[in-house]
Amino acid sequence: MEAILIGFMGSGKTTIGKLLAQQLQLPHIDLDAQITATAGSAITDIFEKHGEHYFRQLEHKVLVDSIARAGVLSTGGGTPTQAMNLHVLQETSTPVILLEATTNTILDRISNDAGRPLVNSLGTNGLVSLKEKRRSQYHACADLIIQTDGASPQKIVSDILHYL
Ligand code: S3P
Repeated sequence: MEAILIGFMGSGKTTIGKLLAQQLQLPHIDLDAQITATAGSAITDIFEKHGEHYFRQLEHKVLVDSIARAGVLSTGGGTPTQAMNLHVLQETSTPVILLEATTNTILDRISNDAGRPLVNSLGTNGLVSLKEKRRSQYHACADLIIQTDGASPQKIVSDILHYL
């Protein structure tokens, strides 16, 4: 892996990951898409049918497999919150880039997203406290932190390229 993007739901991991991979002429790997392909069902269905614990096990396996490949990896918002994943992200020599955004920006981007099970189950207050709770875990493995509010995707990608 050349770069790993982490951050809360709606922080732009997938959008920026795709653009960055394009610029680097490398494959883009989206962890959620890999999980969906491995399970043969959508994230919401995995949560509904098998529960979050099962999803996290799949997520860990796919993370370990993906990290060994070449490219740019966009993780899921909860990936660094699992101790075994946090360890992997802290130990890897690949730069881990945290995309941050204010709570208002995040809520604007993700509210009413049927594809994100936690958005439906937690509601606004739950999401706000989850974001707060995860902050230290994100910071514990990030090599670079980028504030994305008001920045164009191109500017964010160019900041990352400058760092790499
Ligand atoms: C999750 C975030 C999602 C997805 C799953 C759980 C989380 O990824 O992995 O719904 O725990 O924050 P995105 O950050 O791409 O929405």
